[in-house]
Amino acid sequence: MLRIVRGKKIEGGGLDLREMASGYSSVIVDLGTGDGRFVYKMAREQPGNLFIGVDSAAENMMEYSAKAIKKAARGGAANAVYVVASAEDLPAEMSGIADKIFVILPWGSLLEGIIKGSKEILGGIARAARPGADLELFFTYSHLHEEGEIGRRELPGLSLEYIESTMTPLYRDLGIALGQKEIITNEELRKYETHWARKLGFGKNRDVFHVKGIIAGQ
Ligand SMILES: C[S@@+](CC[C@H](N)C(=O)[O-])C[C@H]1O[C@@H](n2cnc3c(N)ncnc32)[C@H](O)[C@@H]1O
Repeated sequence: MLRIVRGKKIEGGGLDLREMASGYSSVIVDLGTGDGRFVYKMAREQPGNLFIGVDSAAENMMEYSAKAIKKAARGGAANAVYVVASAEDLPAEMSGIADKIFVILPWGSLLEGIIKGSKEILGGIARAARPGADLELFFTYSHLHEEGEIGRRELPGLSLEYIESTMTPLYRDLGIALGQKEIITNEELRKYETHWARKLGFGKNRDVFHVKGIIAGQ
């Protein structure tokens, strides 16, 4: 069932996401949205598009959801929706809904699935996408900062070569064509107004990988 964060509450059902989506030109999904700042800011800037933030941690989305449910004149954004779900188990209501999917600086099982091209995570992405939807990924980790996570999840060393030779074929097998890939600077990263893009963007220099793709859909 669809679980939606509305301010400090988590509501089950009561929202027809598909019906809502039909009223907007595009639907943009931010998977692993964290505090949902990105969704809120983008929704305010682009009132003609629907922004759906998804995260398994409901509480983190409450602050920006509380802003979004206000009247537009008081900073609200009726086109920002926060869904409590894990990427591996997206609600059926989200199937085939997204024109674009962002995954920005994931950690935990979302990071592992993105890096290792797991069927669970990529299958979830492919299911949520409309045929031909865009995918945009940002990820980073290094032995200097994330030694524990690298060891626990047996994460490989990151490089453009790893993306090309290992991730690209795995994604291709699940109907996602990875294309443009680059390492971006801290300045470029912080242009994306997410909590972690700003936090890392204003921190020490690190390699942040930015990868785009096209999702064939299922
Ligand atoms: C470092 S935060 C980044 C949040 C946000 N995108 C940003 O840039 O500020 C990573 C987020 O991924 C979420 N996450 C991790 N695994 C997940 C999964 N399997 N499904 C959904 N969200 C997940 C965490 O709850 C956390 O909020």
